[in-house]
Amino acid sequence: KILILDFGSQVSQLIARRVREAHVYCELHPFDMSIDDIRAFNPKGIILSGGPNSVYESDYQADPKLFELGVPVLGICYGMQWMAQELGGKVEGGDKREFGYAEIRARNHSQLFNGLQDRTNAEGHGLLDVWMSHGDKVTALPAGFQMIAETPSCPYAAMADETRHFYGVQFHPEVTHTKRGTDMLHRFVLGIVGAQPSWTMPNYIDEAVKKIREQVGNDEVILGLSGGVDSSVAAALIHRAIGSQLTCVFVDHGLLRLNEGDMVMDMFARGLGVKVIRVDARDQFMGHLAGVTDPEAKRKIIGREFVEVFQAEAQKLPAAKWLAQGTIYPDVIESAGAKTKKAHAIKSHHNVGGLPETLNLQLLEPLRDLFKDEVRELGVALGLSHEMVYRHPFPGPGLGVRILGEVKAEYAELLQRADAIFIEELRNTVDEHSGKTWYDLTSQAFAVFLPVKSVGVMGDGRTYEWVVALRAVVTSDFMTAHWAELPYSLLGRVSNRIINEVRGLNRVVYDVSGKPPATIEWE
Ligand code: XMP
Repeated sequence: KILILDFGSQVSQLIARRVREAHVYCELHPFDMSIDDIRAFNPKGIILSGGPNSVYESDYQADPKLFELGVPVLGICYGMQWMAQELGGKVEGGDKREFGYAEIRARNHSQLFNGLQDRTNAEGHGLLDVWMSHGDKVTALPAGFQMIAETPSCPYAAMADETRHFYGVQFHPEVTHTKRGTDMLHRFVLGIVGAQPSWTMPNYIDEAVKKIREQVGNDEVILGLSGGVDSSVAAALIHRAIGSQLTCVFVDHGLLRLNEGDMVMDMFARGLGVKVIRVDARDQFMGHLAGVTDPEAKRKIIGREFVEVFQAEAQKLPAAKWLAQGTIYPDVIESAGAKTKKAHAIKSHHNVGGLPETLNLQLLEPLRDLFKDEVRELGVALGLSHEMVYRHPFPGPGLGVRILGEVKAEYAELLQRADAIFIEELRNTVDEHSGKTWYDLTSQAFAVFLPVKSVGVMGDGRTYEWVVALRAVVTSDFMTAHWAELPYSLLGRVSNRIINEVRGLNRVVYDVSGKPPATIEWE
């Protein structure tokens, strides 16, 4: 396995994803991990991430004893500079920052780049397109290193000590703008480190099942099943491990997608034979939401009621000793990184279901090591349908944040039906250029209920009815997003169907706002 030490770059997570894509297990840890912990982790190779600081003035220093472990080390950007400084080279502030695309020229032989190139120049040197982002640079190599790539402004764009298997690159191989970046990282982990590509989800199932059995023994486990991907895959995995020792609680708060409750019961209770308690809490939620219009207040009420309902169910299962959650690796990294990186809270409560400690249950989090793509692969390997596993994300407060202002059961019902039509059309419409459906081409799509009435005409009559907005976005990380350029014909069809089929709605609009400045959800 590979250890990645995180010096605070925005894209450190991507390094881990690229390594996992080579089917090699890796973990991301803070840069100040102690040498004892590093030894205990027993990495076959180490990657040092980039970071926003300067090596000569920051306290972002890892323990240099890691260079004595006898394992290959790859330093990226700040990681390279730190390596150069520690091993006796020199790092200086450049007069200008270099940010963006660069073309590097591969020099000398190196296992990292040999034979990799996007083009060659007149003298036959390989040229590679890379993404640079740095102010400082290495100005003198440490003993034992040679330069393996250069650019006109960066004489040591990459360096290598092939004897000790230490490598440094000033650019970012983990981002897609570095076209052969994934190849370089895979060369490092598979070639130079010699890791076995044995990290696959079908392999992982056996290991995870064994671990869950050891962990819980004969105890009972409860899990809050939301219908989302993470809790569903966690349920399927735990059920595979301990069968009827698992009880799932599915809280229907009346703010779910159309027929979602029935779908969850079909898939888990009838399909997989999982014990699922379905709690109809619609009246309770609607009651507490009556008259509340403030988005933050609505989120808090939904979160609080969820906890309350769940807790009441948990108390009916006194044998339960474990609470299972679908926490995934990015959540784990984020909470570890929150110490060093400032997290901006734009909306409260992105995770409804932060269940209180008073439940007195131990936490079982079998997806803690997995990235989202891996969770999906695991779901498929466990027999969940492709459709469920590749669903768009759905927020914890559900339609509660898609009905603007006060939430009413009547609005929820109209919204569910409009939303279902939109999703159905996205799934059924194939883009001819890519051959993919518009559902797969968008990252998230949904309808939003606007508590505004407008005038329309239907047949001979005048109507005065509600408006829905359609929202569809394309994004890779949900931090920024573009509105999806859906074909007009598709939008037209959705609009016609909604207005014809859902009595009570007479106008459909399309949201063409990017994030930022708008957010993806409307509340
Ligand atoms: P925004 O609206 O902040 O949404 O651009 C970014 C992503 O987060 C989802 N989201 C939530 N998920 N609980 C959740 O579990 C929430 O309270 C919540 N609010 C937003 C949103 O659907 C989008 O995918």
